[in-house]
Amino acid sequence: MRVLDRPVDASAEGWRIDRLLDGSLAALAVVAVLVMVWIGWALLRWRKQPAVYSTGQSRRAVLIVIAAASLLFIAIDVPLFWIANRDVHQVFGDVESVERDPGAVRIEINAQRWAWNMRLAGNDGVFATDDDVVMLDRMRVPVERPVIVQLASSDVVHSFFVPAFRVRLDAVPGRVQSTWFRPTRPGIYEVACSELCGVFHHQMRGTIEVVSADEFDSWHQLASREALAIAREDRRALDEESTRPTPEGMAPVRDPAHARRWGWPWQRGVAR
Ligand code: CUA
Repeated sequence: MRVLDRPVDASAEGWRIDRLLDGSLAALAVVAVLVMVWIGWALLRWRKQPAVYSTGQSRRAVLIVIAAASLLFIAIDVPLFWIANRDVHQVFGDVESVERDPGAVRIEINAQRWAWNMRLAGNDGVFATDDDVVMLDRMRVPVERPVIVQLASSDVVHSFFVPAFRVRLDAVPGRVQSTWFRPTRPGIYEVACSELCGVFHHQMRGTIEVVSADEFDSWHQLASREALAIAREDRRALDEESTRPTPEGMAPVRDPAHARRWGWPWQRGVAR
């Protein structure tokens, strides 16, 4: 049942989130109809009876209310909570199993006010080295391969949200948290920040482009080689600069490649 106008689900496990939303909505609709029918019936049934405002409580009335509330709680809240809890622990939070998948793609994302810094390990397969592919507010991933995200923040709490993948995870300063998704259809999908993080919170947007595996691999190889070349050029320029005497009263040159090097070594078994 598709009641809400949600973005199309472009991920393998997104249906679980949709199931929760649809399930809650369906249950609420049933309860709302029952309550309205009951109110209508009561209005007609006792329409001629003068209102009696009792100050005491009838034991029977209290029991009926408690029984009805408990029944609703057991019939609706408990199953929803149980399903949600299971999905979080056994699917979205189970990064460990995905890590064992040889086809898994790994991304590091560092949130900052107000942008998403995204990083793929380069051709050496190791994070936080010169050949990493680093992009601002955009990333590319292959279709039908699980993508593991490790997420951190350099300033305040942000929240990484990709509606089309039904994925959301807070970026908390001082912590690396992880989740994963598996894109199922090529396209360009919006990344939003879903935690109020300052005056430009609304501008903290990015995109994830899902492409074919071949396209991803050739792009990634080339981008990594380019990154390495740029990093080498930076180093060469810096070395040259450092041999020059700093003029009186001037600060030494700061590392221009600093912004590219916020990464961390990939952390195995990081909890959500
Ligand atoms: Cu970052 Cu809102």
